[in-house]
Amino acid sequence: MSFPKEFLWGGATAANQYEGGYLEGGKGINTSDTLTNGSHTVARRVTWRNPQTNETGSTPMVFTSATDRFIPEGAIPAVLENEYYPSHTATDFYHHFKEDIALMGEMGFKTFRMSMNWARIFPNGDDEQPNEEGLKFYDEVFDECKKYGIEPLVTLSHYETPIGLTIKYGGWKDRRCIDFFEKYAKTVIERYVGKVKYYLTFNEINIMSMMPYMAGGLVDFSEQAKAQGAHNQFVASAKVVKFCHENYPDIKVGQMLAYGPVYTYTCDPADQILALERSQETIWYADVQTGGHYPEFKLKDYERKGIQLEDCPEDYELLEKYSADFLSFSCYGSSTVTTHDVGNDSGGNFVMGVTNPYVKTNAWGWATDPACLRLACNTLYYRYNKPIWIVENGIGWSDVLEEDKTVHDDYRIDYLRQNIQSMDDAINKDGVNLMGYTMWGCIDLVSAGTGEMRKRYGFVYVDRDDEGNGSLNRYKKDSFYWYKKVIETQGEDL
Ligand code: BG6
Repeated sequence: MSFPKEFLWGGATAANQYEGGYLEGGKGINTSDTLTNGSHTVARRVTWRNPQTNETGSTPMVFTSATDRFIPEGAIPAVLENEYYPSHTATDFYHHFKEDIALMGEMGFKTFRMSMNWARIFPNGDDEQPNEEGLKFYDEVFDECKKYGIEPLVTLSHYETPIGLTIKYGGWKDRRCIDFFEKYAKTVIERYVGKVKYYLTFNEINIMSMMPYMAGGLVDFSEQAKAQGAHNQFVASAKVVKFCHENYPDIKVGQMLAYGPVYTYTCDPADQILALERSQETIWYADVQTGGHYPEFKLKDYERKGIQLEDCPEDYELLEKYSADFLSFSCYGSSTVTTHDVGNDSGGNFVMGVTNPYVKTNAWGWATDPACLRLACNTLYYRYNKPIWIVENGIGWSDVLEEDKTVHDDYRIDYLRQNIQSMDDAINKDGVNLMGYTMWGCIDLVSAGTGEMRKRYGFVYVDRDDEGNGSLNRYKKDSFYWYKKVIETQGEDL
């Protein structure tokens, strides 16, 4: 077991789930700020207001939607009184960043993945001038990272589209968002030259097909809108790569994909075909952004569905010439599919699919299947031959803070041990060029899927509950000491 010397060990977070500081320092509202909390069984809701009639209400945020418009005609997403929005305080990195980065430093982090809250820099998304106070906040964060020798990995957009872009333009289905994003990206890249070397443009770009409000600020859920939203993000991403290549060649810009291998429940060839089609639903996003062009199977899919992109020839030149420098991905587990009625298709092991008897799940039904990382690394590395980076992996658990303020999360240690072993195989047996590993939610934060606090991932426990109570104090879990040792020994001592 040996990881390369330059391997980037660390942890990952996102502003909408971690930062808090709602409206502080001139920050505007983003899409996630209008999401209530939920649970494993109750969906989060998007709250809205009709500015003409003043009617208010909310709509459950479901993974896929058959409706073209998921909030009523005339309504706009809005923050309402008497609703609880977990992102507004989250776990308050805004006021705890020095303490948190010190904890990361103590664990020996080489890198810290975080997102910038776009609405903290451009409060409405289309502002003429950036918000200096917001820029200063991140200056302080990056300076703090530097103290501990931690390299930031910055996601420019992690479910944080400024709400103004949704209200005025309908979100990412409008091509003008490309320009707004380009301006935002250039502003921050130039500002933090010498402080930030690694950027990701869009978190889990493929979530556009499942949760277009979060991923693209869309309230129009039609296939056409989602296709256009993705296309516009691809072009925006290529423009950022172009800008860096031409001006700051040392800065690397990556794609970020939500990825999990798809298994077949039986050896029926029809199941293999189904798995292939499921995989295609994800992989085409990387074929475009990292591979540089739309695969034929996707173009045929658009043709069948009558989707016509608003595009121009220059888009395709940009996509080809300025594909991502590396491919990063989240990987939490596998899903299993079948064409047969196997009577266990409720819950599944991951977002969709049937239950796989060979893998365990956590309380939220997510598979804890370490083979995934090795499989994912091989598929993604050898498809594009570009460096890859695991920027999310981990296990959500309802941890218990004991009276003496300890947390005994041996299940997490066990999960991580197996996953790190799987990465080791990918590097040392399969020859994959893996840049690093950032465990998701390294300091406890709000769950994106359910809005809960109880679904914790961290090495550090944060005292905060699902109703927003708690001191926000930080406590080291057993996994904190374990991960510190893993980093110290370059993965030798698991
Ligand atoms: C990824 C997202 O999908 O999974 C994160 O990029 C998210 O934002 C993570 O938090 C884990 O999902 P959840 O629903 O458990 O928070």
